[in-house]
Amino acid sequence: MDGKMKYLACNFKNKLTKDEIITYEKNLKDLPLGPTKLILIPSYVYLSFFSNEKYDLGSQDISSFNETTLTGEITAEQLHSIGVSYCLVGHSERRKLKQEINIDFIGKINHAKEQDLNIIYCIGETLEDKEKGNTYMVLEKQISEVLNNVELKNIIIAYEPVWAIGTGITPTTKEINETIEFIKDIIDEKYECPIKVLYGGSVNLDNIAELNKIKTLDGFLVGGASLDPENVKKMLEIMN
Ligand code: PGA
Repeated sequence: MDGKMKYLACNFKNKLTKDEIITYEKNLKDLPLGPTKLILIPSYVYLSFFSNEKYDLGSQDISSFNETTLTGEITAEQLHSIGVSYCLVGHSERRKLKQEINIDFIGKINHAKEQDLNIIYCIGETLEDKEKGNTYMVLEKQISEVLNNVELKNIIIAYEPVWAIGTGITPTTKEINETIEFIKDIIDEKYECPIKVLYGGSVNLDNIAELNKIKTLDGFLVGGASLDPENVKKMLEIMN
C-alpha cells in the first residue's frame, strides 16, 4: 500500500435494491480521478454489478472458515474470483448483533489473507466505554487480541466510535486526532509495522472537509452518506 495514499471506503451495509444499485453504478461514470483510493463495499449480491478501474471493491464480511463446507458463507476464493480486493472485518454492528468476537476476526483475517485480500479491521468504543473512561483500554484490547495473532501486511484499521455510527454525532477533530495518535503509537510500539487508520462514524458532506484536515488520518469509512453517488463524488473531490 502506498505510504501517502488516502482512502474513501463506502459501506452500503444492507441498503439499496437492485434497481437502485444499477442507477448508482451508472452515476459513477464521471468519477473524479485523484490520489484518493475509492473502495465500494456493497452487499455481496451486488458485488458483480460493479467493475471499473477507478475504484476497488470490498466485501462487508468473509467466512472465518476456509475449508469447511458451510451454507450461507462466502470464501476468500469466491470474493477474489469476482474482483474483490478489500474486506471489512469486525464492524461494530456484527460485534453487537451477530455476537462476533475477536477469535472470529482472527479466522476471517487469516482466511482473507490466503487470497491476498486487504483487510479493513474496525474497532471502536461504545458510549458506555467512553463514559466510563475506558476508550483507550477497549481499543488496545481490540487491537492486540486480534493483531497479535495475524500477519500484519495489508491491514488497515478503521476507528469507528460505536456512538458515532449512524447518529449524526462525531467526536471533535481534536478527540479524533488524539485517538488516532494513540492507535498509531500502539501499532508502532507493538508491531513495528505502520498501519493506516481511517475514521468512520457519521462522516458526511458537511463535515468531511474539516475531518480531512486531521493530519494523522488516512481516510474515511462512510456508511449512510455513501448511499448517494453524488455525495461520494463530492467527498472524493474534497479529499483530492
Ligand atoms: P455511518 O456508518 O457513516 O452511517 O455513521 C459508518 C459505518 O458504520 O461504517
